[in-house]
Amino acid sequence: MDKLVIHGGHKLQGTLRVSASKNAALPLMAAAILPRGVTFIDQIPHLRDIVTFSHVLRITGASVNRQRQGLEIDATRVVFPEAPYELVKKMRASFYMLGALLGRCGKAKVSLPGGCAWGPRPVNLHIEGLKALGADIDLEQGYVVARVPRGGLSGGSYRFEPSSVGATVNLLLAACLGRGGSRIENAAIEPDVIVFCDMLTAMGAKLDGIGTRTIEVEGVDQLHPIKFSNCPDRIELGTFMIAAAIAGIPGDPVLITNAQPDHLGQEFLDAFQRTGCFYKIDKDTITITPPDVLKPISITTAIYPGFPTDLQAQWTILLSCANGTASVTDQVYGDRFNHIPELYRMGLRAEVNGNTVTVHGGHHLTGAQVMSTDLRASVSLVMAGVVADGTTHVGRIYHLDRGYEQLESKFSQCGINIHREQYNEFENPPQG
Ligand code: EPU
Repeated sequence: MDKLVIHGGHKLQGTLRVSASKNAALPLMAAAILPRGVTFIDQIPHLRDIVTFSHVLRITGASVNRQRQGLEIDATRVVFPEAPYELVKKMRASFYMLGALLGRCGKAKVSLPGGCAWGPRPVNLHIEGLKALGADIDLEQGYVVARVPRGGLSGGSYRFEPSSVGATVNLLLAACLGRGGSRIENAAIEPDVIVFCDMLTAMGAKLDGIGTRTIEVEGVDQLHPIKFSNCPDRIELGTFMIAAAIAGIPGDPVLITNAQPDHLGQEFLDAFQRTGCFYKIDKDTITITPPDVLKPISITTAIYPGFPTDLQAQWTILLSCANGTASVTDQVYGDRFNHIPELYRMGLRAEVNGNTVTVHGGHHLTGAQVMSTDLRASVSLVMAGVVADGTTHVGRIYHLDRGYEQLESKFSQCGINIHREQYNEFENPPQG
């Protein structure tokens, strides 16, 4: 297994480049199996989740080949409409195969994802929504077995409550090649979903209301393969902005390139500025200038354009460096605080109460041996190690590798003392 070893206290200086978006790439890859033929998607990050989803696509008969920064997906043959438990349990987004296979093959057998590291993440909206559009769905031995009537999904109308990224993607995948018209209300408007809708439109899908809460779809007989380019990763951008705020030199700008700050939503940008951090956006770059002292700013996560839940763990580290007390409340997932007990081991002063963690900043963290539990928790531990006194060992970083491309080389090129080591979890306690 791999771990990251960080000698804390070094300053972050220079330029960080944001990689292509993971959460946008996954629905784009699912969309690539809708048309017969070869689709090329440029700007796909080199990440574990992409490798896992490539396997999921291959099981159906499609071929997936990496070509430099992109993926070539040949969906001429899609003959086995299944996504097995072994792969879906590794990555919940494999559930996109439900909509994609219904669209392409008219039937699908996809494992239910089950729980995740921070509690239940239901898929009721995916299933009820697809039923409302005309799919027959049964649950059999942990699998969702679905089919559409002869001639294609009849169409219909469904309102999400709450708005869901994954369910919006699944319904659109199924509805594009349906017979009738479909209407999705309270649809997700996350940038990832808009980019996905743009790809469907470029393939010949008829969508109305992209980027609004109501999307209408008119089914078409077929879609055609295309070349398409993915967007930069908004959560990696937010992570880098927070890293610059906590580890940069006050008054000395850190440059972040390949950035699309509007994808972060105004809530995050406003909260960031209120900490005293100055930012300046210029085309696809943003410069971050940290203040002498960070102000403690409380945040509450919400569905886009609210403060992203995927940045709350990182914000906790910012609060630990701020001068005073503030809180993080997660309204999207009520129990996403697995990183907190690990951070206690580094001296974090904080209390968790329901879906709120109150952080008392201004006390130095100290290096310790800690363990990743999920993707965003992992990066928060790395960031804690960057600002801590002494050495931090972050174990089980396969979680981090799911969603951050070459994080340690990006950070070490900016002056952070961080490297990867292999270890055996049950032997050789770390030295120093
Ligand atoms: N929800 C339901 N029923 C459903 C589906 C969702 O009640 O059937 C609820 C969820 O429990 C949650 C809310 O709806 O409270 C929104 O969840 P959503 O369905 O939008 O989340 P998701 O599509 O499963 C994506 C990202 C997550 C990110 C969330 C929220 C991908 C692959 N995943 O998940 O990303 O946290 O949106 O923004 O795009 C990550 O990258 O670390 C990550 C977990």
